[in-house]
Formats: sequence, structure tokens, C-alpha cells
Amino acid sequence: MRVGILTGGGDCPGLNAVLRGFVLRHSQRGHETLGFEGGWKGVLENRARPLTTEDVADLWNVGGTVLGTSRTNPYKVDGGVAKLRATWEACGLGALVAIGGEDTLGVATKLADEGFAVVGVPKTIDNDLSGTDYTFGFDTAINIAAEAIDRLHTTARSHGRVLVCEVMGRHAGWIGAYAGLAGGAHVTLLPEFEIDVEALCRVVAERRKSAAGYSIVVVSEGAILPAAKGAGVATVAEGTDAFGHVRLGGIAQRLAERIEQATGVETRAVVLGHIQRGGAPSAYDRVLATRFGVRAADLVHERRFGVMVALKGTAITEVPLSEATGTLKTVPAAFYEMVQGVSG
Ligand code: F6P
Repeated sequence: MRVGILTGGGDCPGLNAVLRGFVLRHSQRGHETLGFEGGWKGVLENRARPLTTEDVADLWNVGGTVLGTSRTNPYKVDGGVAKLRATWEACGLGALVAIGGEDTLGVATKLADEGFAVVGVPKTIDNDLSGTDYTFGFDTAINIAAEAIDRLHTTARSHGRVLVCEVMGRHAGWIGAYAGLAGGAHVTLLPEFEIDVEALCRVVAERRKSAAGYSIVVVSEGAILPAAKGAGVATVAEGTDAFGHVRLGGIAQRLAERIEQATGVETRAVVLGHIQRGGAPSAYDRVLATRFGVRAADLVHERRFGVMVALKGTAITEVPLSEATGTLKTVPAAFYEMVQGVSG
């Protein structure tokens, strides 16, 4: 069977390990893999190349994606689904494996509903996909962020400053919550819970009086300032992408200005940005991504489509695509209370 594979949305450490796991397992059965370049865009334009075992053999620890990626949405392109169907027939595909987050897999869900033989693999450093305990890329991102926050402590302490560290996380604050916890943040602010600037400044002012004197604040880029103060999310560009997302950025700087103004304590903003998404995957993510790729190959072989591979506890299983993309997995209030309870 010839099977297409693509990587869509923001890149993520472990994408190449999924490709490797899939191709190695799929080839053992004598099947072929066709790698589409640039996510759904590559399918619309029929840009593909064979992926052989030699092509993927050395990819277990390579960051990014050798196939390239895009945020193209076939449902926002004129005649998108017809173009996709034409590629499908021209390439003689028996199935397609889509590796992506809510947007890429949202497209896969609609295609499955239209009768396409699709299997999804959950990817996002944000860890916000339902139906799976973890997505690969998340572990790498929180390790990078936690190490960065550790480093911020020593310099903030030396200068008696407040450092506000902006981490990724559009709608869900898993990176902020885990990195804040792992990095000993004094305040952690997530997209799920509107920011209380007065309470934040009170923590900073109290800590100013203590022996340590400094504060570390971790904030998700999608955290929301109260609308009454003329805010909402902080963005760096006008407009939205093909999936309706604004380009986030700047919340740390806004908060830094407010904190300094309200408390008089020197406050700086640090944006970790794409450093969290770049480079080699952690060992955990290499293993998870490989297991996901192997399972996707097994599902294709068993002709079980319209599903997404998933981690439940320590087992790799699968869930209907619709279950994975119906609602985002956000940080529950109880988890956030626990994080706050050990901060400050
Ligand atoms: O979806 C993962 C993510 O890393 C989000 O946390 C972030 O908002 C977004 O991608 C940024 O992606 P890009 O810089 O590619 O637009």
C-alpha cells in the first residue's frame, strides 16, 4: 500500500522521530511512504517525495521536520478538497497520515468525515490536544523553559529585579504551569485564568521586603489582561492565519511595565519564543514520537481510519479523531490552584 504522510502547523521536536518510526514499521511490511512537503499545502500542490528507510534512519534526534510545514487550511482554499482528492488519486494513495495539532488534525477530522482514509498523530508543544495524556514536543519545551527559568533566578536575585518570562501556550497554559512549577516561579499566569494585576503586584511588593527580594513571573503568551483595562491578549501583528489565530507576543513586556509602575521595582521581560520549539527532542519525546509513528503504521495496516494515536497512561492506543479535536485540553482550576499553592 502507498501511504502519504505530512507534518502540519508549528514545528515541534519529535516530528522526524514520528516519520522514522512510521517508515521503518511500514516498510517492514513492504509498503511505500510518500512524504508531502509543507503540510496540507504539499497535498494541494501535489508536492511529494518517497520516504525510504535510508531517508529516515538517522532522524531519531533531529529537530524540526524534514518534510517542512505550513499552516495552510485546505478548507479555506478555493476547491481545496477537490484538489486534495485529485492528488490522492494521482498518487494512488491507500491512506494518509497527518501529524499535527488542533488545526492540522481538525482538517483530518473533516476529511475522515468525508470518507478519506486518514490517521492522525498528535503533535504540539502546547500539549492541548484532547484524547491523549501527552503530545510529543511538550516535554522538550518544558525542559528548555525550566532550564531558562533556573538561570533567570540567579540574575534576578543578584540585581533584586523582577523578571517576567513569557513562554508559549496559545489557549492552554500547560507549558507555563509545568515550567513554572519545575522552575520555581513565584507567580505563574496562564491563558485559562484572567490576570489579576493588583494581586501580582502585591506578591512582588511582599517579596521585595523579604531576604531574597526578587521575583520570577512566568506568563503564557496567550494570557489575558482584564478587558476593563483596555487589554485582552497581546499581539505583534494585525490579522489572523488560515485557522483564525492571531500572532501572539508581548504580554511579558506589558506586565513588566505595569509591575514596575505599581511597585517601583525594576522589572524586565524575557521572551523564550521559538527556542522552546527548536533543536533536538528530549529522550522522552524521542520515545513517545517513535511509538506514535509505529502505532500509526499498525493502524494503517489494520485499515483502522478516522482515528488518532494517543498515549493513555503508559500505553499507546487510539481515539476517534473527532474526540481529539472537539475541545481543547486546558489546565483545570484545581491544577492551577496547586501550582499557585507552592509559589510566591
Ligand atoms: O501551537 C504551538 C505554538 O507553539 C503556540 O504555542 C504558539 O502560539 C504558536 O505555535 C506560534 O507559532 P508560529 O510562531 O509558528 O506562528
